[in-house]
Amino acid sequence: MKRSYQYAGLQNPKQEGLSVDQCAARIHRFAYAAERLMFLQASHIISTPERDVKVLLARLQYENSQHASQFKARLPELRISKKKAYQAPDVSLQIVFDEAMYAANTVELLAGLTKVFKPALLEAYRRYVEDTNGLADYPTVRILKTVIAEVADGLRQLEAAYDDLIDTPEKEAEAETWSRTLHNLLAAAGGIDGTGEVNLDALEPVRATNPYLIPKQLTRDDTFPRVWDIIHVDNERVEERLMQMIATRLGETTIAEALGFVLYEMKDQPWEFYTDISRHLWDEMRHSVFGEAAAEDIFDNRSTMPIRDWESAYLFRMDPLELYAMLFGVEAGLMKYPPGKREEFEFCRDAARHPLMTTLQDFDWADEVLHVHIARRRLKEWFNGSPEELQALGQKGLDFRARARAMHPQSPLPDASGKIKSTQ
Ligand SMILES: [Fe+2]
Ligand SMILES: [Fe+2]
Repeated sequence: MKRSYQYAGLQNPKQEGLSVDQCAARIHRFAYAAERLMFLQASHIISTPERDVKVLLARLQYENSQHASQFKARLPELRISKKKAYQAPDVSLQIVFDEAMYAANTVELLAGLTKVFKPALLEAYRRYVEDTNGLADYPTVRILKTVIAEVADGLRQLEAAYDDLIDTPEKEAEAETWSRTLHNLLAAAGGIDGTGEVNLDALEPVRATNPYLIPKQLTRDDTFPRVWDIIHVDNERVEERLMQMIATRLGETTIAEALGFVLYEMKDQPWEFYTDISRHLWDEMRHSVFGEAAAEDIFDNRSTMPIRDWESAYLFRMDPLELYAMLFGVEAGLMKYPPGKREEFEFCRDAARHPLMTTLQDFDWADEVLHVHIARRRLKEWFNGSPEELQALGQKGLDFRARARAMHPQSPLPDASGKIKSTQ
């Protein structure tokens, strides 16, 4: 009798499978593709106006950074030097992803991700699992199982967004043209895993004749009413203070967008730099979604809550180092108690008694502690000057921030009286 748990339940234990070198060659390309998708998605968050797509991109760029890390870490176990593992495998895939950066709008961006790259990833990952000996190459198959599940879930979300947004024959034609360009380039590069034939003659970039530059312009759709800043009140005015906190969380999307510049514009950093910033970016976008979820919970309509734009007036005009030093200054300041992140959490728990916001602020606090650690670590490696010079740089940013904030008056907050479902 054949027992399913013989060979610990592993697949293909008796098939010849792939050699260590063949496995390493494919995984090297998987690592590079995931890395480039992180950059592609992170750098387009700012230029994507549609709120729900913006948020989805922030999640997907982070998940791709994690996949790239897992693949890169597997390579030295397959007799590949650590140095090589963290470099690009060859120029063919590079040309494809350089071109993908030039998606001109959400239609093209979604077309590339939904119709070309994510299905191609899944196909290559599944082929790998079929081709390899699941006993000999167990550690890779284990990684791929979770990566496949995550990419498949991400693709389902992208497909839903694609169906929503590409809703006219013109947009369909536009999506079709761009996905054909990328599909042909990817095929000419031998596919994601390099198992296809390489056709160097067809590997010509169409738009990517120069490195892509992120357009530093704030784009928003009309999901939330836009204001410059919101009124600030004392903790004694409990309902208004809670509204202010929710609106502040919602506005953190601007920080996430600015971290997209830091991620993309800081070239030639160690890989851990990018995974840290990628995480930081996704956290700030999650904090913005904290505000969105709380607004929807209270008003049954997220659009009641205004989104503040003032932060773009300084964040989008700083160089990445100055921006990051300034963020570090702000985030480190939030660790002081009182007021700080701990007080915000206690306010939600004890004064507003709002269960959802209590949970969200509890995690917001935990995330911010993590960010201060990330920033301290990164700035130390990244900044060559003295601690005093770094502080001066951060202070310059903080002054710029204060001037930007004061440029226009603050707007009132939505009236939540009688709407807060607290446990009081
Ligand atoms: Fe945050
Ligand atoms: Fe933060």
